Amino acid sequence: MTVAVFRRLFLLSLMMMLIPIIGGRQAVGEPYVQGPAFCEECHMDEAKSWAKTKHFTTYRTVHKHKRAKKILKAVGGKKNMKRNKSCNVCHYSNEQKSPTAKAKKKYGPSCESCHGASSGYETVHADYGGKNVRRDNEAPAHKSKRIAEATAAGLVWASMTYDIAVNCMKCHGLARPEISGKAFGKMLKAKHPINQSFEIVMFSQGKMRHWPKARSSARLANLFVAGQAAKLVSANAMAGKSKSKKYKKAQLKRAADAKAALQGVPGAAALIQSPSDANARAMMTAIGDQDLSGVVGSRIPCAGADHENLHQC
Ligand code: HEC
Ligand code: HEC
Ligand code: HEC
Ligand code: HEC
Repeated sequence: MTVAVFRRLFLLSLMMMLIPIIGGRQAVGEPYVQGPAFCEECHMDEAKSWAKTKHFTTYRTVHKHKRAKKILKAVGGKKNMKRNKSCNVCHYSNEQKSPTAKAKKKYGPSCESCHGASSGYETVHADYGGKNVRRDNEAPAHKSKRIAEATAAGLVWASMTYDIAVNCMKCHGLARPEISGKAFGKMLKAKHPINQSFEIVMFSQGKMRHWPKARSSARLANLFVAGQAAKLVSANAMAGKSKSKKYKKAQLKRAADAKAALQGVPGAAALIQSPSDANARAMMTAIGDQDLSGVVGSRIPCAGADHENLHQC
């Protein structure tokens, strides 16, 4: 046997030994939602605020809403909102206790609906580099590695305004790619709401706010722009694949409104011309820390006094 052949055989057997391990890891490694009780241990204040919002409380009442039955019937499939795939992706969280445990539908949208499924990032995101290391004495190199690793594993940090907005829009824009335009069309016909005035600043800075300090006007402007970019990208994609006139019309309105809201924002022209996720990310990266409140500040809507859950300015 020549050295080259031996080496090849050796590598082949090594690969055959490794494939099941790698393959198995991948199957188990798919991140899953662990549920808010898990986060509560360290994020008590955030959990308390969340429990007071509709995101938590809705699961107790939404299936009893006067239109729920009609919407379910129109879409077809399981007659129970919690079990029906066309409802449960938005109206419940899919909690899983371990990699092999069966996922259970619980309460409404929760931490991981916005911040990403946590099984991959939970350990790494909160570890400053050892038992006795705290936030203020974490080594800078460790910090950047920790942030990069947690992000790669799916953590959506507060600063990732575009990624958070993408998550809001999937539900509030009725824009989940895994549900067909046809099914959404049937839901709309049965009077499922699509709130065309959903805007991320107005909807996040009211009762939903679970961060101690009110955000600066520069941050709010960034959040507004991120929200419009995510709205435009999701509306454009969903309008393109729609087989329902009603649904398509609703998505085209979302796209047109977002385009108007982005006028004059540096770098928005390319996104408006071609509304792709890549163009939205390129625009957000180019904007960086620029303060755009002078450009979009006056476009950020405020809720009326009758909307007690939303941001009133
Ligand atoms: C063992 C304690 C612990 C647990 C459990 C935990 N976290 Fe954290 N989390 C932290 C710490 C500490 C930080 C601050 C990290 C830093 O200083 O960068 C943090 C930061 C975060 C941030 C980023 C905040 C920012 O500044 O952008 C988010 C989002 C977050 N956690 C979400 C969650 C979610 C969701 C869960 C549950 C699935 C969870 N965490 C579970 C301790 C924890
Ligand atoms: C793409 C995400 C999504 C899907 C899928 C979805 N919903 Fe909704 N649903 C929402 C959102 C977001 C709201 C809140 C809309 C608003 O008022 O802005 C809502 C509101 C409702 C309401 C009104 C609740 C209230 O308090 O006014 C009912 C009833 C409802 N949905 C039933 C259903 C049923 C039944 C299904 C399945 C056939 C379903 N939804 C599928 C996102 C979704
Ligand atoms: C509906 C979406 C949503 C849900 C649900 C949600 N968050 Fe957040 N979270 C946000 C947004 C939006 C921000 C702030 C973005 C910004 O800074 O502009 C944020 C900020 C945070 C921060 C940063 C706080 C700071 O001081 O900067 C932490 C930590 C956090 N969330 C943890 C959690 C935990 C834990 C839960 C569940 C108990 C949770 N979030 C539920 C959307 C959500
Ligand atoms: C997994 C789906 C989902 C995601 C992601 C999501 N929401 Fe929601 N949200 C809902 C549903 C469903 C309701 C309606 C509950 C009901 O009325 O029964 C709702 C209700 C709300 C309400 C209460 C509105 C009212 O009239 O009182 C606010 C505010 C809100 N969402 C803000 C946000 C923001 C901001 C984000 C992103 C940071 C977000 N949501 C992300 C599904 C979602």
